[in-house]
Amino acid sequence: MNVELVREGFAKHFDGATGSVYASPGRINLIGEHTDYNGGFVFPGAIDKGMVAEIKLNGTDKVRAVALDLNETAEFGLNEEDAPQASWARYIFGVCREIIKRGGKIAGFDTAFSGDVPLGAGMSSSAALESTYAFALNDLFDLNIDKFELAKIGQATEHNYCGVKCGIMDQFASVFGKEGSLMLLDCRSLEYKYYPFNPQGYKLVLLDSVVKHELASSAYNKRRESCERVAAAIRKNHPEVEFLRDATMDMLNEVKAEVTEEDYMRAEYVIEEVQRVMDVCAALEKGDYETVGDRMYGTHHGMSKLYEVSCEELDFLNDIAKECGVTGSRVMGGGFGGCTINLVKEDKYEAFIEKAFTSYKEKYGREPKLYEVVISDGARKLC
Ligand code: GLA
Repeated sequence: MNVELVREGFAKHFDGATGSVYASPGRINLIGEHTDYNGGFVFPGAIDKGMVAEIKLNGTDKVRAVALDLNETAEFGLNEEDAPQASWARYIFGVCREIIKRGGKIAGFDTAFSGDVPLGAGMSSSAALESTYAFALNDLFDLNIDKFELAKIGQATEHNYCGVKCGIMDQFASVFGKEGSLMLLDCRSLEYKYYPFNPQGYKLVLLDSVVKHELASSAYNKRRESCERVAAAIRKNHPEVEFLRDATMDMLNEVKAEVTEEDYMRAEYVIEEVQRVMDVCAALEKGDYETVGDRMYGTHHGMSKLYEVSCEELDFLNDIAKECGVTGSRVMGGGFGGCTINLVKEDKYEAFIEKAFTSYKEKYGREPKLYEVVISDGARKLC
């Protein structure tokens, strides 16, 4: 994360001023995809890529913001009707509004930010941006908001200002991340546990298909609606089923005639995915990475064929992983583009990367991008 660049950009736009600098990371997710808004479990970790923002109070009731990577500026007030047009500025505005709705007293500030978490690659650049500002404003205005609420502020920003009815995983990971550890989060109770993750003899790498998932928000929201419809149908006979997380395949089959074929497939994926996360936890306790990998392939298959959030390019990368004997591989994040996450034995690594690059280029005329995963800390003040 490029702190110097942010310092320079901020000084240039705001008459040589200096403010405080904050950062918050993007995330990976080992397993547990589309389970968060179903009350289930997820297994994310924060990464060494994220957003950095410099901020200084400006004594007015306006925010003046600079997106350094886009070379764009925005200025907006803090009332509901002041919402800016630019989508990047709406994240900052949304965080301000959600803080105000919770009774937080904030005022105008100048800010510049930059990030190195690739946009639209399934690593949650937007959550990184939200968490940076939620964390920073909480600190600068002494608001005493706890870390869970900071994550919820980011999530509410997505819901209310960006049109994505996301779960809590990304913002949680960005706020709570810990160097070297993945986190198992129960998205209903919000109980969580850190799992040191350093699989000896393996590498964890991301292959970015470079297919952006920009138009995915309506498809994402539709998936969520399908899940809620099925949970409601099951609940009629099983009042204890709050979310699909509580459902079994038997319960799903009881309502098969009542739900659409498509909704059935969505729910089947979620019920199986909840179980896969549990299997991975048990396997990790024993250092059994073969089982971890097997479940990752299971997730990919489900996301591709049942949840239908993969795409041709990601399926192609997944097939190559299989061919090269990669231990586990799957599409990561919301889907519709972005990265595959791959757990690869060190001795298979080079051949896999070589094959993935040449075959992908041959087929799609461009290379994928490679990121080695470094599991890092969550939101913090840098200086
Ligand atoms: C996006 C959302 C998350 C989660 C994932 C899929 O990243 O923001 O809440 O639902 O998709 O697991």
